[in-house]
Amino acid sequence: MNDDETPGLLDALRRIVGANHVLTEGDLSAWEQDWRRRVRGKALAVVRPASTAEVAAVVKACAAAGTPIVPQGGNTSMAVGGVPDDSGREIVLSLQRMNAVRGIDQANLTVTVEAGCVLQVLQQTAEQAGFLFPLSLAAEGSCTIGGNLATNAGGTQVVRYGNARDLCLGLEVVTPHGEIWEGTTGLRKDNTGYDLRDLMIGSEGTLGIITAATMKLYPLPAATLTAWAAVPSLQHAVTLLGMAHQRLGAALTGFEVMGRFALSLVGRHMPQLRVPFVENEDVPYCVLLENSDSESEDHARSRFEALLEAAFDDGCVSDAVVAENLSQSHQLWHARESIPLAQAEEGLNIKHDISIAVSRIPAFVAETDALLQREVPGVRLVNFGHLGDGNLHYNVQAPEGGDDRSFLADHEQRINTLVYDAVEKFGGSFSAEHGIGALKVDELEKHKPAAALEMMRAIKRAIDPKNILNPGRVLRL
Ligand code: FAD
Ligand code: MLT
Ligand code: ZN
Repeated sequence: MNDDETPGLLDALRRIVGANHVLTEGDLSAWEQDWRRRVRGKALAVVRPASTAEVAAVVKACAAAGTPIVPQGGNTSMAVGGVPDDSGREIVLSLQRMNAVRGIDQANLTVTVEAGCVLQVLQQTAEQAGFLFPLSLAAEGSCTIGGNLATNAGGTQVVRYGNARDLCLGLEVVTPHGEIWEGTTGLRKDNTGYDLRDLMIGSEGTLGIITAATMKLYPLPAATLTAWAAVPSLQHAVTLLGMAHQRLGAALTGFEVMGRFALSLVGRHMPQLRVPFVENEDVPYCVLLENSDSESEDHARSRFEALLEAAFDDGCVSDAVVAENLSQSHQLWHARESIPLAQAEEGLNIKHDISIAVSRIPAFVAETDALLQREVPGVRLVNFGHLGDGNLHYNVQAPEGGDDRSFLADHEQRINTLVYDAVEKFGGSFSAEHGIGALKVDELEKHKPAAALEMMRAIKRAIDPKNILNPGRVLRL
């Protein structure tokens, strides 16, 4: 669009959503800067529609003007997916005002919500109605269900309930042409051609704007049991996972691993939190495991404790604490979920969100730790994540006392190459749950098979021929 058209477009947007909801001045950093502070963009405007019809009208106006749109929910992306570039040409389309819970269908076990509904609000709404909405992640106080679906978010309950995709039964979407596709049917069976819902999920705002979704609900568990176990090695954590699957079956709802250095950062930056075993230098890893199901607490507890006893006997667990009540359980989860914040407090860092077959993770970590220490002596490895899903956050922090900006400038590219080549060698994925965004476009080009990339580009060109939705993110055309 040339500059002469900008005022015309902004006026049109003001007419659609109201002048108060087209932000062009003042401090727009909440929308322009990403959560990790890696990028600070400049938006033509932040536009905040209140309804699906308004989203559709905004998209039509932008499409006519050739103005790119960056959809945004809670702006917690780890991959710089939802902030504008620095051209000043892109609008941020914030879904935050579209946050209504449209309704719960108790018999169908579903809830329909608008895209801007904050994940925690959805969890609480479900609980008040007597149901569980199981998607859970540390950003749940600010991320939105639209963002969760656009990134196919994972989190801490995937081992039992799956990713955001597995929890979604239908979507309402505004297409890049400004048409509305109403697909919030709530059907569990619908084989009527291509699965457009699954195409939209995980497309990171490049194929359509999710305006509402119908999500699955589950019965509330009768008992939730949480343990924090010290394990002698990562291999022992993997063995413990196998035992937990065998003995707990579908009641195993969480299995997180946390390296000693990751936990020491929580101890350092959040001294008010209790982090079991963090003082003990002989404990290289801890595991947070959770059992929740419909059985009575007594029955579930005796089975859970029997698992831990067997793990002691096998030498898989050297020490453990079991939460006595929900409040203690929340404290343990809070310590785990504070790792990303503690790491951010420690300084800018390199994040790797990788997945590898669980059985191969100990060998991957041993080999890659040694490789990184050889190539970049002194780097500090912040290793934690969703071991139950084979998903590690294999993050890298500058050596103690080093300057993080110059560390990133000097070493980020090389470290990424070393780690991602090792992931490929072990048959894994370089992006398990955070997506591609603007940060990992080169990695996608390098690691995705050429035939798959070509199909992805063909889909993008067919659905968004003007390339106005989140251009340059995920794919380069
Ligand atoms: P945003 O950051 O606003 O956007 C993310 C992407 O989705 C962007 O590409 C954006 O353009 C697009 N988008 C947003 N809304 C829409 C919409 N309505 N329609 C179309 N496209 C849209 N992720 C995990 O998977 N597992 C974790 O355990 C996890 N833990 C985290 C912990 C912390 C502390 C933080 C800060 C982030 C974490 N994340 C995790 C990353 C992030 O993916 C999730 O927080 C969340 O899914 C993003 O939701 P959001 O609303 O903030 O989306
Ligand atoms: C988490 O699981 O806490 C986040 O996805 C990880 C991260 O910050 O790398
Ligand atoms: Zn994660």
